Amino acid sequence: MLRGFAKSFESELVPALREVVAQAPFRRMFTPGGHQMSVAMTNCGSAGWVTDQSGYRYDGIDPDSGQPWPAMPPVLRRLAEQAAAEGGFESFAPDACLINRYTPGARMSLHQDKDEQDLAAPIVSVSLGLPATFLFGGPKRADKPKRYRLEHGDVVVWGGPSRLFFHGVAPLAEGEHAVMGPQRINLTFRKAR
Ligand code: SIN
Ligand code: FE2
Repeated sequence: MLRGFAKSFESELVPALREVVAQAPFRRMFTPGGHQMSVAMTNCGSAGWVTDQSGYRYDGIDPDSGQPWPAMPPVLRRLAEQAAAEGGFESFAPDACLINRYTPGARMSLHQDKDEQDLAAPIVSVSLGLPATFLFGGPKRADKPKRYRLEHGDVVVWGGPSRLFFHGVAPLAEGEHAVMGPQRINLTFRKAR
């Protein structure tokens, strides 16, 4: 848990994200079971995480535009690499950044990040905007999760023995963040391929 680690990147990070989102707008995807997710998503990098009726996967193409996902802006890559190193993972080379947007009420149920080929690489998660309650459990879905409050600028790195631990996000509370407005943005950097 790297409290406030992303704050010094904010002035470059926020405009870079705005450009990514202009090219690949947020959309609420459907799970294979046909449920629309409450979290809106987009991606940057050479691979992007998508879900639809055929399943979960990484794809180099944005299904909404038919074009490759926007390249990962250098400031995002730098932030992810530095945070990973701080968390004990040298030479992290993410090829995917999933960008999640939570508006009040949006949540993410407990899940494992297991669609990546390289499970030796960590997950680096950057929180921006409204605070959220992050749930971090164990190797089994039934393991009772610990609750962590994540605020603007906080970064979480998990890998090694906890790489496949179940995690999720409790429903976002109403609020207005001075920089990000009435939302929470989460970036998760992964080595997908
Ligand atoms: C995720 O598990 O992909 C997102 C976690 C978060 O929003 O903090
Ligand atoms: Fe996840």
